[in-house]
Amino acid sequence: MSHPTQTCRWHAYPTAGELSQAAAQKILHSAQQAIARSGRFSIVLAGGNSPRQVYELLRISDADWRCWQVYFGDERCLPPQDKERNSRMAAEVWLDHVATPRDQIHPIPSELGPEQATAAYTKTLEAVGEFDMVLLGLGEDGHTASLFPGHAWGIEQGSPPVMSIFDSPKPPPQRVSLSAVRLGQAHEVLFLVTGAGKRQAISDWRSGKAIPASAITPRGGVDVYLEESLLGGSHAETGKM
Ligand code: 6PG
Repeated sequence: MSHPTQTCRWHAYPTAGELSQAAAQKILHSAQQAIARSGRFSIVLAGGNSPRQVYELLRISDADWRCWQVYFGDERCLPPQDKERNSRMAAEVWLDHVATPRDQIHPIPSELGPEQATAAYTKTLEAVGEFDMVLLGLGEDGHTASLFPGHAWGIEQGSPPVMSIFDSPKPPPQRVSLSAVRLGQAHEVLFLVTGAGKRQAISDWRSGKAIPASAITPRGGVDVYLEESLLGGSHAETGKM
């Protein structure tokens, strides 16, 4: 079954710092536009370390925080305050310090275990249509969220919006992840890619190899913010949106 092709816009930056500054500005601009359009801004947060600097910049930025609705693209099945939880990092460096009402921040209750958390988050998302923005990271093997090569990605139409993961190659093994289809139901998708280890995944992606990241196919295409050192000599737009 053919899957929609992905339109990718590559934005290369000399350093992770410059990448984070540009990404934070893009997010704030998109939020302003969404709030002007609909009175709210729904964003799905990426996990891992790459977004940390972006979240720190958002913490010190001026935004209409009361209009934000915050979701998560995936979560590790760990206790809520575990330092490895994606929701804990986002709270510590950003969300605990801005005026977004607590009931507008929707962590995945992964402490319940994969199945119960999947059922609960599926219910949470029932009332949510297209996201305004989805943030995603990229793993060294081309994974994104908790969708891994050789595992289910949830790319078929009709795939469930939320998936239970029991055998993640990246610890911990038990996780919850939005499916590729649900992550693609977004007005904008931004990938944040830093770290020398990602070079092969970027090369695979740009050469058209099917990796989980390339299975995210929103109508408007995706914007990949990456360190230019990951391009390995090929040309890309440098820093201009
Ligand atoms: C997770 C993330 C995962 C992450 C990538 C990149 O829970 O681990 O969702 O998909 O985004 O593994 O991680 P880094 O940004 O730390 O390189």
